[in-house]
Amino acid sequence: MDPACGGAAFLAPIALRMRAALLERGFTPREILGHIEEHLHGTDLDSTLCELSKHFLCMALYNEIQSTNFAPKFNVYQANSLSSLKSRLGKIDVVVCNPPFRKMTAEELSPLRSDYSEVIDAQPNLYCLFIALCTRLLREGGRAALVTPTSFLSGQYFSKLRKFLINNTTIEHIGMVSDRQGVFMDVEQETALTILRRRIEKNPAHSHANVSVVSATGKYSSVGDCVLPNHGLTWPIPRSIEDVTLVKKLSASKFRLADYGFKVRIGAYVWNRDKRPKFESLEEAKLANADSVAPLLWSRDISSRGVVKIEKNPTWNVEHRFVDIGLKNSSSVIKSPCVLLQRVTSNDQPRRLVAAIVSQDIFDTYGGFVGENHVVILEQVVEQPEFTPTNLVELLSTYTVDRYFRCISGATNVSVFELNQLALPDPAILREALLNGKDWDEAVVLAYQLI
Ligand SMILES: C[S@@+](CC[C@H](N)C(=O)[O-])C[C@H]1O[C@@H](n2cnc3c(N)ncnc32)[C@H](O)[C@@H]1O
Repeated sequence: MDPACGGAAFLAPIALRMRAALLERGFTPREILGHIEEHLHGTDLDSTLCELSKHFLCMALYNEIQSTNFAPKFNVYQANSLSSLKSRLGKIDVVVCNPPFRKMTAEELSPLRSDYSEVIDAQPNLYCLFIALCTRLLREGGRAALVTPTSFLSGQYFSKLRKFLINNTTIEHIGMVSDRQGVFMDVEQETALTILRRRIEKNPAHSHANVSVVSATGKYSSVGDCVLPNHGLTWPIPRSIEDVTLVKKLSASKFRLADYGFKVRIGAYVWNRDKRPKFESLEEAKLANADSVAPLLWSRDISSRGVVKIEKNPTWNVEHRFVDIGLKNSSSVIKSPCVLLQRVTSNDQPRRLVAAIVSQDIFDTYGGFVGENHVVILEQVVEQPEFTPTNLVELLSTYTVDRYFRCISGATNVSVFELNQLALPDPAILREALLNGKDWDEAVVLAYQLI
């Protein structure tokens, strides 16, 4: 069964495989058609796609249809699968699905809320509910094969889904599609191929999954077994064979950004919603009698290992450099030393963590700054941290930290939830390695005890 069968991309090849297996068992063409009519099911919201699917199934079974002159009535029909498959729950042997993915609106969520409360958190993604549906459709021991984005492996709003999966399934396999080009056109997300087996007995403390990296040509390279914690935390999943040791060792580290004396915040200024007056320059703000003006720092101001400054002649066309914040003591204004990270990076950028410091000039001249919403701020919250913001930029820019972050982050945005779980090296060992003349990359490897 495929509860989001679209144009039969899965149903048609499955029909071909059923046909081949049944031929081998000696079924006649008429028996093959009867078997597939009864055992292959699909539903989709789009009735045109359902009709198309039936045509594709006819094409797949052309020989049988032609030789028997029997026109099968395939079990593919239009439905909202999330609400209309109740009679099928717990009955299906095999579910395959490439669910739709996008944020759900409050209106579409409202009628589904009670049925899916176990996995709904805030404003969920459609595919989160579909994964729960696919699991519930299965009989005990039945299997689901899912093609989805990777965000459910780590995202904050998928925490309940991760618990649900550990409680109700054995996660047999996760395939991480390493090179997405050619797998799905236009899909700017990493893709996971997940095999689940329905389990009725509940509640192991944590689970394991066998993980592979899958190339665009479909070649699976096993990277071994992974521990999946059952507290809603991110599932650290290696993205390549070289990540396996990294994930094992680093997951055991107890040091986080908070232990280094930094707190994670997101820039408070949402440019397309904020109605407060904005200015290109301080002079312009003064002319308008704005009296609580702060500079705005944007994601484009951040370059790897850079220093963010307010330049007279900026390298990019900053339309709004200052905002009248309206309040003298607004909590949106950052006044302590800090590190800035780009909040959204694209998959083709070499680094997921693009970190820079904020020039002291900005604090001296303006008393602080406001971060635009695509800026992550790591604010120094202890008086004299062992590692300064400049040191932290070096640490976050090392190859090993960036690699580990990729393993706990299934989306291109750098979230507070994931950053707070970023395992960092033991500060004492790191300090000693640096004092002994190691560079940052070498010191980090030593402090994580990777060798
Ligand atoms: C990513 S596509 C699946 C593609 C499919 N494997 C194919 O062969 O085309 C997701 C499908 O989910 C369908 N869909 C979206 N919401 C749905 C719902 N509530 N119930 C059933 N199908 C839905 C869409 O119409 C779309 O065809």
